[in-house]
Amino acid sequence: MDYLEIEGGNKLSGEITIDGAKNAALPLLAATILFENEVTIENLPRVNDVFTMLRLLENLGASYSYEENTAKINSHYITNTRAIYDIVRKMRASILTLGPLLARFGQCEVSLPGGCAIGQRPIDLHLKALEMMGAEIIIEQGYIRATAPEGLKGATIVFDKITVTGTENIVMAAALAHGESKIINAAKEPEVVQLCQVLNDNGIKIEGIGSDELIIQGTGQKLITAKKPIKVIPDRIEAGTYLCAGAITNSEITLKSVNHTHLFAIILKLQEMGFDFDLSEDSITIKPASKVKGAKITTSEYPGFPTDMQAQFMALALRAQGASLIEEKLFENRFMHVSELIRMGANIILSNYTATVEGKSNLNGADVMATDLRASSALVLAALVANGTTRVHRIYHLDRGYVGLEKKLQQLGAKVKRLKE
Ligand code: UD1
Repeated sequence: MDYLEIEGGNKLSGEITIDGAKNAALPLLAATILFENEVTIENLPRVNDVFTMLRLLENLGASYSYEENTAKINSHYITNTRAIYDIVRKMRASILTLGPLLARFGQCEVSLPGGCAIGQRPIDLHLKALEMMGAEIIIEQGYIRATAPEGLKGATIVFDKITVTGTENIVMAAALAHGESKIINAAKEPEVVQLCQVLNDNGIKIEGIGSDELIIQGTGQKLITAKKPIKVIPDRIEAGTYLCAGAITNSEITLKSVNHTHLFAIILKLQEMGFDFDLSEDSITIKPASKVKGAKITTSEYPGFPTDMQAQFMALALRAQGASLIEEKLFENRFMHVSELIRMGANIILSNYTATVEGKSNLNGADVMATDLRASSALVLAALVANGTTRVHRIYHLDRGYVGLEKKLQQLGAKVKRLKE
């Protein structure tokens, strides 16, 4: 198993390129199930989750080629409609095949994804919405068995809670349903917006894209024809993580291939903490702060502050002058990084869903354990400013979502090595 060895205390400088967004790539890959012809997807990040989704599609009968961040996927010949446990257990987002498989074939079986480190993460809202569209769903032997022999019917869905993959699943299901569907309280994340735009560009009429109310005209099980290549949007969470790397080391670094309009909440929070920015159409430069101030952070759905950036900002808050208050509103157990940061000398007090983070912490290198994708990146950030050497173990979590993290950090001048246990 690989681990990262990081020597703390270096300033960073220079520029790196941000990859395509994992969370946009996954629903787009799942959406190929809705297409009758080959779909070309460009700017796919080379991360394990993307390869897991490709493997899942292949296991269902799709064929694909992958070269230089571009995949050509042909899901026309899918005949198998069972998403098996062995693949689904590796990645919760495999649940994104449920909506498109059921909409196209009128039946499917998808392994239940199970819990994960950051919380229970139920999928009840996905299932309830599909039932509203006429599906019969039973849970048997760890599988969701869904049937809709006459195809799904358009329906009005009101999500009790905003759910990203839930919205994506239902948008894909509605695309091939019979008649009109309305999704109220839909997620507005840029990744959801891209999925809707792609479907809309390829013949599925969707109104309200980017709002919390989507109206989708289904085709009645007629497959969609892909017209041109799809380019995955830049990864706002990867970009946010590197902005935090610049911030925590108080360095000037530039990120290329970014869409800063997707990063407003992150940039505003960093400005509040004392950092300056130069923004251009597709690049961001973060400038050092004369004094790093503590912050109050509450995670929420887009366009609010993303839960996927909470851990990284906690690492940054350790270096601020003054305390920070970080409230996690989305996932009940998304503070796994706290105990590891404490092992590095952090002073953090947890009370329910709120962490009080003392600033000006003197961090020391240690052996620490990655527990989930974003928690792991917080440990890497803390290691960049810790005294001495930190070894971050179990970095397979990082490989699920960050392309060449150690290479990009090395490019910025950090002392990072990937080694074998
Ligand atoms: C997606 C992202 C993940 C991000 C999260 C929140 C992908 C592949 N993953 O995850 O990186 O952290 O959005 O921005 O895009 N909920 C229910 N019932 C459901 C569905 C969700 O109670 O059926 C709850 C969840 O437990 C959570 C909240 O709703 O408390 C939001 O979760 P959701 O938006 O569904 O997260 P994911 O789509 O799994």
